[in-house]
Amino acid sequence: MRDIFGKALLDYYNGNYTEDVFTATNISDEDALPLPFLFRNYDEMPILEKKSMELAKGRVLDVGCGAGSHGLYLQEQGFEVKAIDVSKGAIEVSRKRGLKNAEVIALLDETEKFDTILLLMNGSGIFQELSKVPMYLNHLKSLLNPGGQILLDSTDIIYMYEDEDGGIWQDLNANYYGELDYLVSYKGESEPLTTWLYMDFETLATACHSVGLECELVMKGEHYDYLARVY
Ligand SMILES: C[S@@+](CC[C@H](N)C(=O)[O-])C[C@H]1O[C@@H](n2cnc3c(N)ncnc32)[C@H](O)[C@@H]1O
Repeated sequence: MRDIFGKALLDYYNGNYTEDVFTATNISDEDALPLPFLFRNYDEMPILEKKSMELAKGRVLDVGCGAGSHGLYLQEQGFEVKAIDVSKGAIEVSRKRGLKNAEVIALLDETEKFDTILLLMNGSGIFQELSKVPMYLNHLKSLLNPGGQILLDSTDIIYMYEDEDGGIWQDLNANYYGELDYLVSYKGESEPLTTWLYMDFETLATACHSVGLECELVMKGEHYDYLARVY
């Protein structure tokens, strides 16, 4: 892994912000991911994230923490927070920003127990493919203390398959429509990411029930996005 994303976070943190990260998918053109957004404070968070901050309780795990914005906010509120990410650059930045417990660990390698697990900014992306969701959910379940919860946001990207007449085009032989192949570019370097999974709420709820978890729709966002609470 070349950790282009981590390099971009480090550049921004070190005052070398000259351009954004660009992402492209197998069904969409290049799109900018503004680096300042990854360093957002509470006031700058989308409403679904603000809601998840409000619902947090007990010991918190921030999975795929990026620059650590959610963990930092909760730590400031007095919560005990652990933040993990596979990107070394992301963890370096999270520590430099003040997160006391931030480690380079992939979700499937985490073993401690928590009362709240955060998967934010399309947290289901980390599951990669629909077929891997039960395995990820079972692992997340094993990390929950009794009464614990997972707070996850995602988007039903069915709108990306709409044509100008409002019809939906889909290859019926293809995999689940929320599985996208991503290419990340920054300052002339590119890195293919593994598949990143967007999930509609019903599909998430069905997967949760299949492994004995409850799934509740907490709130819908402004554009096909939603926050779910899994317990
Ligand atoms: C879209 S960013 C979200 C960052 C942060 N949660 C936020 O809202 O600003 C997704 C993050 O997940 C991390 N990631 C991807 N796969 C992961 C895995 N299996 N375990 C832990 N982190 C992972 C990436 O390195 C990246 O930093």
